[in-house]
Amino acid sequence: MEEVRNIKNILENIDKDHFYLLTEVGKISKEINQKSYLVGGMVRDLLLGFDNLDIDIVVEDNAALLADALISKIPNCELSAKHDRFHTAKVIFNINGKKIPVDLASTRTETYEFPGALPSVQRTNSLKEDLNRRDFTINALAVSLLPDSFGNIVDSFGGLEDLKNKKIKVVPNENIFTDDPTRMIRAIRFATKFNFEIEEKTKALLEKAMSSGKFDNLIEKIRGDRVKIEIRYLFNLPNIEQAIKIFFESKVYRMVSTKLMEPESRRVRESESWLVALAFIINKINNNEQEKIMKNLQMTGDEIKIITSAFNANKLLLENKNPDSLFIYKLLKGLSNQSIEILKILCKDVACNVSPIDEYLNNTSKIKLHITGQDLISMGIPSGKQIGEILDKVLEAKINNPNMTKDDELKEAKKFLL
Ligand code: CTP
Repeated sequence: MEEVRNIKNILENIDKDHFYLLTEVGKISKEINQKSYLVGGMVRDLLLGFDNLDIDIVVEDNAALLADALISKIPNCELSAKHDRFHTAKVIFNINGKKIPVDLASTRTETYEFPGALPSVQRTNSLKEDLNRRDFTINALAVSLLPDSFGNIVDSFGGLEDLKNKKIKVVPNENIFTDDPTRMIRAIRFATKFNFEIEEKTKALLEKAMSSGKFDNLIEKIRGDRVKIEIRYLFNLPNIEQAIKIFFESKVYRMVSTKLMEPESRRVRESESWLVALAFIINKINNNEQEKIMKNLQMTGDEIKIITSAFNANKLLLENKNPDSLFIYKLLKGLSNQSIEILKILCKDVACNVSPIDEYLNNTSKIKLHITGQDLISMGIPSGKQIGEILDKVLEAKINNPNMTKDDELKEAKKFLL
């Protein structure tokens, strides 16, 4: 990557409303004697050539002042939230029918009472100190929005060099992972996502933290949803097999449960859903432990159901070595697409035959009846629950015999008349 010290040209090429907004924020900051910088993922991603319009702005030194000024000076800019304790505010710009959220934070430092605790936050008037509370050098780049220096990069810890050399490296802070262990999941996520290497000292810090035992089964101790957010990002990556590999190699899996074991194969295709990878990983451990993990990750009832119904179906499938179409139909008809996706992967893992599932998806699930409830009513069956039940029975017969004509279906329906 070419050395970049000013990225005005890159910013000029993002969506024009977002660009306008950034220039306005810079102008108004200057008017009230505050310095504002774009920071975090958007800067990193733009430098890597990826789209990211998630605007995070750090204000040296008072975000509340800037939020007030933006609201009073820009028509259609409204306050969405203000958190005095964290020295942050969120404003929404309404531009050309679009609502664009902007996060503002005062330059601040953080202290952590215990690993994984929410930080207590102190204001500072030093941008460098603020950048130093962040996790990795590539996430600690700031871009000035002030009119005179618009686009200039502040690179206090060599983030540009690390982007160029494809390195995930912590900012100079020995406690980076012990303060906030979810950053270990972030480290392996960014390494996987960008195909970067975790720099040597960073790797050593991560290994030291994970082998200390302090973060074993962490989701039992800290708010699981923070871990869940990171796990979800990790397992939603397109290169999921690499994500699973590094999840085990780095020992980060121990935060979720020390009972997890690396699967022998990693034949998980890219999926729409992180739940598929999670199910694959927890499949081999016992039910109690599975339930505990899902509960501690604060998964929703629907998410848990997607996984458990796939596990239950898998058990039934393993018990029946030669399932016919009707068995598969009954097994799969109530399952969501995601559960079926999980089931297919579990099946492949034990080298059982997935073709009945493919047969269901490609053919059986598409079988439709010629007759409708109206035909049954014409036969004298009163409208009500019974109509649906009879149609189900006829459909089951048709699954065993897909060539049934309308007459055959009517004859079949008659069998169920009282
Ligand atoms: N950050 C951190 N520790 C965390 C989470 C975030 O230090 N546990 C810092 C990082 O510097 C990050 C910034 O806060 O760049 C913004 O966080 P977030 O929006 O969650 O992540 P991004 O880096 O923007 O990346 P992505 O949007 O891909 O999650």
